[in-house]
Amino acid sequence: MKDHDLSFDEFDEINNPRPEECDFDRVVESAISRRGFLSVLAVGTATFLTGTSALTGRADAAADRFGFAQVAANGNDDITLPQGFTSSPVVNWGDPLWSDAPEFDWSVRGTAEQQKMAFGDNNDGMSIMTVGDKTVLVINQEYTNRDIANAHRESKLPETDDDVLKGMLAHGVTIVEIAETDSGWGVVKDSPLNRRITPQTEMDITGPAAGHDLLKTAADATGTKTLGTWNNCANGETPWGTYLACEENFNGYFRSADKDMEVPAALKRYGVGVDDWGYAWAQIDDRFDISKTPNEPNRAGYVVEIDPSDPTSTPKKRTALGRFKHENADVVINKDGKVVVYMGDDERGEFLYRYVSNGVYSAGGSTDDLLVDGTLYAAVFSDDGRGKWAELSEAATGMSAAEIAVHSRIAGSKVGATTMDRPEWVTSNPNKAEVYVALTNNKNRGIKPNKGGDETPVGGPNPRAENKYGQIVRWMPDNEDHTAEGFDWNIFVLAGNPAVHSDDKAGTPNVNAGNMFNSPDGIAFDSKGILWIQTDGNYKNEGDFEGHGNNQMLAADPETGEIRRFLVGPVSCEITGLSFSPDRKTMFVGVQHPGEKGFASHWPFGGDTVPRSGVVAIKRDDGGVIG
Ligand code: FEO
Ligand code: CA
Ligand code: CA
Ligand code: CA
Repeated sequence: MKDHDLSFDEFDEINNPRPEECDFDRVVESAISRRGFLSVLAVGTATFLTGTSALTGRADAAADRFGFAQVAANGNDDITLPQGFTSSPVVNWGDPLWSDAPEFDWSVRGTAEQQKMAFGDNNDGMSIMTVGDKTVLVINQEYTNRDIANAHRESKLPETDDDVLKGMLAHGVTIVEIAETDSGWGVVKDSPLNRRITPQTEMDITGPAAGHDLLKTAADATGTKTLGTWNNCANGETPWGTYLACEENFNGYFRSADKDMEVPAALKRYGVGVDDWGYAWAQIDDRFDISKTPNEPNRAGYVVEIDPSDPTSTPKKRTALGRFKHENADVVINKDGKVVVYMGDDERGEFLYRYVSNGVYSAGGSTDDLLVDGTLYAAVFSDDGRGKWAELSEAATGMSAAEIAVHSRIAGSKVGATTMDRPEWVTSNPNKAEVYVALTNNKNRGIKPNKGGDETPVGGPNPRAENKYGQIVRWMPDNEDHTAEGFDWNIFVLAGNPAVHSDDKAGTPNVNAGNMFNSPDGIAFDSKGILWIQTDGNYKNEGDFEGHGNNQMLAADPETGEIRRFLVGPVSCEITGLSFSPDRKTMFVGVQHPGEKGFASHWPFGGDTVPRSGVVAIKRDDGGVIG
């Protein structure tokens, strides 16, 4: 397998192996605490046996809360939806955003000049936002499928400087006005709101790390100005109309011309090493060569706040929200007005975080400091269904505020934060003080420590060794106060395969042969309080995953625990990104990396075309509200 066929985690695993030493006895002791595991399950078998449709997948579509009948798992190179729903393409990788931009060139999969003015690759988190009377899609372009974008090169990797720049410019964020016409939703070319934000866009660094020596480089002696954002995974939205783009696997773009360089431990914790991931950005920009610019990796791994209403605005990196492999940023306005942001760090054995602002939000008031001035916490779960937020304070960590902001993982280790099964999206229930996190999977659970050497014992919210399927965990803050120290927690669903396994790999009772899935990743509530689950998992449909089919999207009822499959994506894609039109009659869903790893996909254009990630608009055939 070539490096570019590996997942981010697999690459890190090979290039930055974790410490070997692990207190295995303690791990095993914890693993066998099955009573503890059962006691924290959210809902007992009895609850599920009363809901026949949850077990059989049959449903009276009109009469229940979901409003659709479950679709079957499949391996089709298409989008499958329930009867009564239709999808149409909105925008795909390489689509021009301005009328003077060239069309996508299928033969070379675009050029740098063309990509600069076009929708980027591998769209991920997104928000439909309203600016005046315009509807705007703001969307992350997480990374590139190197073997697809460079399929005309023998190496299937970027070779020329233009190839490298094309790949670089396919990253970042796209802001594009969209509109619905008789032919469906589509791009409004030349809208004054259209903007590409790339790894070359100037940004401000704000918060406790701004101006610190760790962030200074030859090009920026102030440590307050940086260029660009990349590997933007999922997202967040603020009530003051800004978009949050979250930098995830920022490490895979750095390399060192000096292969014997001793990489500092603080960079190793984030997987920065002497080899990049096949992007070759150092070939055109010394910033990505850590032997020349050792502080540049400290300037990535943040949440970036973007104002889509002003195309001339400078995006702001919010170091107060910590530096790690950010998945998304779920913003909650607490009952006292404080801004609370829940965030996951998606790597095996890393932590779940909470940010609490010092100031309070009021509509129309200043929001300048709300993501600048505040406190970061990491979650500590107990096996008894309780948990607490450990403050990443100078006293608790022995680190300065700037060091905590830059080396947040190290700070989390110092307070004994719970090592998690890869925290992906976090989302809060709009109807109650209750927050959900998708823990996607973790083959190292109970086997290996995290990159900082913290053990990964089996138990609590991570109850299965070598976790193949993932789970969704939820917590309820004490006194319905999102700033409270303590919380209760339980497991909403353990994904699994009850057709293959009868032990805990079968999953919780709300998983059955009709609705099974693996690797929950994107999770988000709609306005009705339905929890939508998007998967980024094993799509080989064999062995442990037989019957799971392609990656998919499901709907879950947070009250009953019932889960029903709504959508199946095309071959080898991941389903990620969810938002709704202002009238809630259109659901926008993202399809990422169809055709990755050499699987044959021609989505969405068919024939023998190159697969191209994109966004689809889903509507009810009766024109009704969808979410
Ligand atoms: Fe970019 Fe953790 O998914
Ligand atoms: Ca994800
Ligand atoms: Ca994922
Ligand atoms: Ca992905």
